[in-house]
Amino acid sequence: MNILLLGSGGREHALAWKMAQSPKVRQLYIAPGNAGTASVGTNVELRANDFAGIKTFVLANHVDMVVVGPEDPLVAGIYDYFRDDDELAPIPVIGPSREGAQLEGSKDFAKAFMMRHGIPTARYRSFTADELVAGEAFLETLSPPYVLKADGLAAGKGVLIIDSLDDARKELRQMLQGMFGEASRTVVIEEFLDGIECSVFVLTDGNDYKILPVAKDYKRIGEGNTGLNTGGMGAVSPVPFADAAFMQKVEERIIRPTVDGLRAESIDYKGFIFLGLIKVKGEPMVIEYNCRMGDPETEVVMLRIKNDLVELLEGVAQGTLSTCELIEDERAAVTVMLVSGGYPEDYEKGKIITGLDTIRTPDRIVFHAGTTRKDGSIVTSGGRVVAISSYGITKEEALKKSYAGAEAIDFERKYYRRDIGFDL
Ligand code: AMP
Ligand code: GLY
Repeated sequence: MNILLLGSGGREHALAWKMAQSPKVRQLYIAPGNAGTASVGTNVELRANDFAGIKTFVLANHVDMVVVGPEDPLVAGIYDYFRDDDELAPIPVIGPSREGAQLEGSKDFAKAFMMRHGIPTARYRSFTADELVAGEAFLETLSPPYVLKADGLAAGKGVLIIDSLDDARKELRQMLQGMFGEASRTVVIEEFLDGIECSVFVLTDGNDYKILPVAKDYKRIGEGNTGLNTGGMGAVSPVPFADAAFMQKVEERIIRPTVDGLRAESIDYKGFIFLGLIKVKGEPMVIEYNCRMGDPETEVVMLRIKNDLVELLEGVAQGTLSTCELIEDERAAVTVMLVSGGYPEDYEKGKIITGLDTIRTPDRIVFHAGTTRKDGSIVTSGGRVVAISSYGITKEEALKKSYAGAEAIDFERKYYRRDIGFDL
């Protein structure tokens, strides 16, 4: 079959790398892709939000399935666009409908969904601009730190965690006055949860589901989880504290009610569900939903799935996921992200990357995130540049391989965290 994958980051390179191993795949297209995806498929110059352009391409190239990497096209309704178009309707889109994508696209929607289905999450209330006074009063009922979340998509920047009540009031006002544009016209205020986080990924066909290998990502720029939030500086899988007893609670209290809740509310959802979880005194709670795979978690999760991903995705599309089996690789997988100096604030692009070809081994894979080809060289084109993923019998062994790779790859002002996995 011919597959079109939408997106351009490390997540998409990892998905493309995994799908390209399937004997079922004839052509794998990635739109727009990056310098890494070009080595496992064919890049197509199309933006993931250009639905009309995607339609033309899909029909002209006999694409049999569309896999959506990032959230934007899902929240914008690419699933519905295909479903409602006579020519596109037979072609499955792996990803939820616009309504299902609201689990990520609106934190207020996600919180209300969890309330309706008794899914454990932080106590909260939502406020709009004309409810500022009520919002301030609710803040006073909470103890610090205060968690303020822009309701809509804010490029990963919409969550503020604030120590003082005065600052929280100030930030609430600014958010409601449009600090994040439309995204913060509604603000969710919630109780702070103290615990350790992990990422659980579920693949669902709307009835059944498979739980993918659990991962933990490292979001802060600095070692010891300090400094600014980033898209993610590294990840590990498995996660020792997400043991069988914990995962049983996750499945019973969170995964099953989520999948059943979507079905009960007639929300079309055939794709990945990303559960951002926190373990509080041994109990799982939901911090957030995303309607896609995580990045950089995908760069370890794909290494730990032994079976053919395309077969699983066909099961999703055909509603036969219950007949598929998911086989986890016993080995550990880790990834270390190399980023541009200055990221997540200002940084320069266009730096020549060296050493990419020298470090590849069967158990060490370089996934490109922000790279592009220019004048015969591969150069940086984003803050997160490449993710170096490795297998190991233990996490430590895998980390040693990734860090050796991180030394060998170079570009001007390269930076990476040397403590991925430190807290496990
Ligand atoms: P989100 O964009 O919802 O993933 O939030 C970003 C990060 O903020 C999460 O990964 C958590 O580390 C943190 N966070 C969000 N909500 C809470 C909460 N209620 N309690 C503690 N930390 C939180
Ligand atoms: N690694 C977190 C995310 O993809 O949102």
